[in-house]
Amino acid sequence: MTSRDTAVSVTGLTKRYGDFEALKGVTFDIEHGETFALLGPNGAGKSTTIEILEGYRDRSGGEARVLGVDPQHGGLEWKAKLGIVLQSSGESGNVTVREQLTQFANLYPNPRAVDEVIAAVGLEQKANTRIKNLSGGQRRRVDVALGVIGRPELLFLDEPTTGFDPEARRAFWELIRGLKRDGTTILLTTHYLDEAAQLSDRAAVVAGGELIDIGPVHSLGPEEARIPIVRWTENGGVREQRTPDPGRTVAELVARLGEPEALEIVRPSLEDIYLDLVGSYEKDQEQVPA
Ligand SMILES: Nc1ncnc2c1ncn2[C@@H]1O[C@H](COP(=O)(O)OP(=O)(O)OP(=O)(O)O)[C@@H](O)[C@H]1O
Ligand SMILES: [Mg+2]
Repeated sequence: MTSRDTAVSVTGLTKRYGDFEALKGVTFDIEHGETFALLGPNGAGKSTTIEILEGYRDRSGGEARVLGVDPQHGGLEWKAKLGIVLQSSGESGNVTVREQLTQFANLYPNPRAVDEVIAAVGLEQKANTRIKNLSGGQRRRVDVALGVIGRPELLFLDEPTTGFDPEARRAFWELIRGLKRDGTTILLTTHYLDEAAQLSDRAAVVAGGELIDIGPVHSLGPEEARIPIVRWTENGGVREQRTPDPGRTVAELVARLGEPEALEIVRPSLEDIYLDLVGSYEKDQEQVPA
């Protein structure tokens, strides 16, 4: 497949900050209309990757194509197709939410309606409040609103929901699902693995500047790590069994015990699988002499 068929194409991407290698050759593609999550511990290289793709940072090596363009040489027309929510922008202006969004909307050829976007991020009550007087989570919602106001073809979200209360997070998920339905391609980073599981089609896990796994979000990690656990209580003790056929195990239990006490089937969450992946990567790193 050529890079022209994909929204984002990254091959052997490297980034050095002085002597420090922040990215050691990362390769992945994002299809048009796909929501792709970049997961990984603090310092893994997620923001570095996103900022290279946004054209904010130059790469040290490798290839990158974003909507068919090398992000190091993207012009205004290219930039107008992108929506960007940086990890730390902290809008702190003296203008109101509505004024700021209106200003931004005017920069784009086909922006979304300002009031619709204000409603989508739940800031109706604060539309006429100066941004500097908003709470941290409310300011973050302004960042998200600014990212989507230009009706981007490709949206970059670097930890968009940090500081959101649970209700705001759910509302954000709805907003993203709506954008997805409109065909928006989304590259998302988040430390909330439930969020990644809810929103993304595929995910990549990076650690130490390397891509350690990539795939559909429900099939990440080694197959063994995704085997469900059947848990029940018997003779006052908690018992559990890992099995690829939980239905059969439950049937056997029912035949033997009648209704098993406190019966549950637990499927490892994306967070469990992620922790497994990153844990084994870190263990391997310790064994490699520096
Ligand atoms: N301007 C810079 N100069 C030197 N080192 C940097 C610079 N920016 C980032 N780094 C280093 O590069 C590595 C990757 O940073 P990056 O911000 O990409 O991580 P991240 O995966 O986004 O982490 P987080 O989850 O904490 O946001 C880190 O070790 C960081 O210290
Ligand atoms: Mg980051």
